[in-house]
Amino acid sequence: MSKTYRAALVGCSRMGAFIDNEVVGTPHHVPPYSHAAGYEACDRTDLVAGVDLRPDVLEEFGKRYGVGSDHLYTDYKELIAKEQPDILSVATQPEQRAEISIYAAEHGVEALYCEKALCASLPEADAMVEACERNGVALNMGTNRRWHPGFDKMREVIASGELGALKTLIVYSNGTLFNTSSHTFDLMQRLNGDARATWVQGHLPQGDELIAGDELLDDPTAEGMFGFENGVTVYAMNSPRSSEYEAICERGVLTAQNNGVQFRQRQVHEYEVASRTIRDLGDGTFPDYEQASSTLRLIEDLVAALDRGDPVTRGGVRVARANMELIFGFVESHRRGGARVSLPLADPGIRLIRHGREARQPRYQA
Ligand SMILES: NC(=O)c1ccc[n+]([C@@H]2O[C@H](COP(=O)([O-])OP(=O)(O)OC[C@H]3O[C@@H](n4cnc5c(N)ncnc54)[C@H](O)[C@@H]3O)[C@@H](O)[C@H]2O)c1
Repeated sequence: MSKTYRAALVGCSRMGAFIDNEVVGTPHHVPPYSHAAGYEACDRTDLVAGVDLRPDVLEEFGKRYGVGSDHLYTDYKELIAKEQPDILSVATQPEQRAEISIYAAEHGVEALYCEKALCASLPEADAMVEACERNGVALNMGTNRRWHPGFDKMREVIASGELGALKTLIVYSNGTLFNTSSHTFDLMQRLNGDARATWVQGHLPQGDELIAGDELLDDPTAEGMFGFENGVTVYAMNSPRSSEYEAICERGVLTAQNNGVQFRQRQVHEYEVASRTIRDLGDGTFPDYEQASSTLRLIEDLVAALDRGDPVTRGGVRVARANMELIFGFVESHRRGGARVSLPLADPGIRLIRHGREARQPRYQA
């Protein structure tokens, strides 16, 4: 019989436990969305415990998920010692993530579901890679589009070569670096087969106020470009057109509309071999796919890694670290007046530290 894995949650707030209540009825909501709802839905995991610093959040979490008060904690080290979870979710803010994840990797946790952004600095990301690899720990970062079946099809069409080689990727609203670009950059990495990025050129509209020596005082909005070693260029725009993504290949264009609710494929009817541009795009047929919860698929990916006994997952700690390098590449490019920054990036010596930031109040009812 298949083993049921013990899952536990650090950070029982919105993404940890209650975010489904904020999006019920929206077209892009394919439940379960929160980590806790994902473990509840997965028939290979038992959600056994939770930890949060806020007693009210912890209590509501216990009530909603049927976790008794003797399995609710305010100290994650105590939870790990007493509950010995196989899988640990770290759904705090990025500032707390590295410390908790590294401690977990060194104290018997075998799989981590870390929210995005991975952490708060590049050295922290390096330390997470080191701790996961030394202890054989599987890690997936919660950039949900990596497990979205529609974006899987988009990747499959690109990889099949039917539209020719991928040349350009466009993000129509890049948002703030840690909160949103972590998602959009991860999607760009995924659509391009997780190729290595080699340069970044970025602008942070509020960067001059937010960068104070070695501290990044808030999560900055960002726009710019980056390039991969296979020659694909990403244009990450800051436009009012939200959550849309485009992949431009030699002979066609794939567009994810309305945050992946619809996908569109267009291709040239007649390809002019001599031309470097494509014209006369006509509608093609984007492949069918079944809707499925990206959170659940991410958890199932961790379960499969645990079943196999090797830490390889669709995401992985190195891809998540590369995502963090892109984020700090944008910060560094801004600091250098918008210069093009080559990757790998030397430690820019700066960390996200949001002094006095208060956690948000989760919505307990839909
Ligand atoms: N994947 C997605 O689509 C998605 C959506 C929303 C949020 N997120 C990400 O999820 C993370 C959490 O977001 P949120 O809005 O739920 O955040 P939040 O600030 O509302 O909640 C974080 C919780 O962590 C708790 N916490 C902090 N330090 C802790 C510690 N040492 N031990 C135990 N608990 C601790 C806080 O008390 C708080 O309740 C963020 O990184 C965010 O970017 C992802």
